[in-house]
Amino acid sequence: MISKKRKIAPSILASEFGNIGNAICSIEQVGGDWIHLDVMDGVFVPPITFGAQMIRSIRKLTELTLDVHLMTVKPSNHLETFVEAGTDRFTFHIEAEVHSHRLISRINDLGISSGIAIVPSTPVSAIEDLLDIVDQVLVMTVNPGWGGQAMIAKTLEKVRKLRKLRLEGGGSFLICIDGGFNLENSHEIWDAGVDVAVMGSAFFGAENPKELLDRCRSR
Ligand code: DX5
Ligand code: ZN
Repeated sequence: MISKKRKIAPSILASEFGNIGNAICSIEQVGGDWIHLDVMDGVFVPPITFGAQMIRSIRKLTELTLDVHLMTVKPSNHLETFVEAGTDRFTFHIEAEVHSHRLISRINDLGISSGIAIVPSTPVSAIEDLLDIVDQVLVMTVNPGWGGQAMIAKTLEKVRKLRKLRLEGGGSFLICIDGGFNLENSHEIWDAGVDVAVMGSAFFGAENPKELLDRCRSR
């Protein structure tokens, strides 16, 4: 049986940017739960992708949840512009922001969902004091910057730890993973306690993305 709790968020990073309308349309048609948007600034990670202007354009094309993942320094500088552009969920990296508690509070006050992301070398303890105020934790299962990398299996230990902390009353956040998700590892990631999985290259490389999503959700 397919659990409704298991969400998959296709990432447009692996799509053809010259045809972004088609990519959004296909995510909608095959039942993607959220649209994951990877914002990279060339400083926090080497590549540069896109910013608020792209989000504003995508907002006009869909009512699906826009799950924005900022891989930028000074994420607080972008908050208001991104909210105005139509962001539903604003996730930034703990490694990029000293005043994370304050930024999460600002996101929450603006009425959208807040997220904190950790790279593979950052332990859960770095964000433990934020778990009672944040709406989602994004565990990077690859080093951020590029799609198409293999999942680092050890990062799933952090998913298990987060699930345990949540069970013990440490918040009501969603546990998300990002990087290297595919049909082969789907059972392992749900089993670890993932609520939302980002999928880039596997989704846009699939011959039948609807079947892929259905099979991944039901494993
Ligand atoms: C990587 C990005 C991911 C990426 C995932 O830095 O944050 O969202 O699009 O792509 P795949 O699924 O190909 O690893
Ligand atoms: Zn991402």
